[in-house]
Amino acid sequence: MNGPTTGDPRHVPVLPAEVRHYLAPAPGQIVVDATAGLGGHSLLLAPHLGPEGRLLALDQDPAMLDIARARLQGWPVSCAQGNFDQLRQVLDERGIERVDAILADLGICSAQLDDVQRGFTFQQSGPLDMRMNPEEGEPARTLLKRLNERELADVFYHYGEERFSRRIARRIVETRRETPLETTEQLAELVRRCIPRPKGPRPTIDPATRVFQALRIAVNDELAALEGLLAALPRCLKPGGRAVLISFHSLEDRRVKQAFADRERWQALTKKPVVAAEEEVRDNPRSRSAKLRAAIYRPVV
Ligand SMILES: C[S@@+](CC[C@H](N)C(=O)[O-])C[C@H]1O[C@@H](n2cnc3c(N)ncnc32)[C@H](O)[C@@H]1O
Repeated sequence: MNGPTTGDPRHVPVLPAEVRHYLAPAPGQIVVDATAGLGGHSLLLAPHLGPEGRLLALDQDPAMLDIARARLQGWPVSCAQGNFDQLRQVLDERGIERVDAILADLGICSAQLDDVQRGFTFQQSGPLDMRMNPEEGEPARTLLKRLNERELADVFYHYGEERFSRRIARRIVETRRETPLETTEQLAELVRRCIPRPKGPRPTIDPATRVFQALRIAVNDELAALEGLLAALPRCLKPGGRAVLISFHSLEDRRVKQAFADRERWQALTKKPVVAAEEEVRDNPRSRSAKLRAAIYRPVV
């Protein structure tokens, strides 16, 4: 069987050795990569499944899935577009009862961030969209128009831990009376103007970062989707099957930790979240905030 020949230097999968170790892919297994992205983790897993095995690569973003599909050509992989909170239905549609392992590497990947037209980045000006699936839901600019001041402040505070959430929300409401907020540049500038410059050295992260993260979480209803996935796992895994989840902020990690603490269902393999070694963080900055938790599905009967 031919393996893929092209690599994409832009996206390096996080915690590759740890994902392989905890997911333990083996010949003949059915494995789900619930967040295919650029196919980085899928490419690591597919070679372990042998000709009888199968990898199902899922992503809600059709553009990412196209890239993953191209990179995974030659391996026993099926690709599916959809939200991972619908994983049970995705398996039903393919006649798959239960699978051996499920991986989810949450958040967005570099290709989404780099595409200015998707609106995830404030490094250049683009439309305020931020939908992972551009066919579904409300773009960020509509959310910024629709939510009232209090709701906006709550989004920034709860999903971004932004200390100046109220001030930013007030400024958004004042501004949108005069001019609609349509671009990432407008929003980033507005946020920067609301946040006092700290004394001492320049901050290493842009003050707009937390608001952008919060909006992305709200636009894609990311926490509800994660809860949907966590609820679906026991309905999708074989007893003895493995789940590996990689989170990038405490709101996600807390939910994964709570789910795996249910001893009637899960045997946790990681007491504490596994984090990237210094060397990986140096080579792949995205790994800095990655937290991996793994568990075996062992229902008490
Ligand atoms: C961090 S990237 C995954 C990168 C991938 N592991 C790799 O190595 O290339 C996360 C991907 O998950 C997808 N995603 C995020 N939330 C999702 C959801 N609820 N359902 C399906 N896909 C989702 C995003 O569109 C993105 O492509």
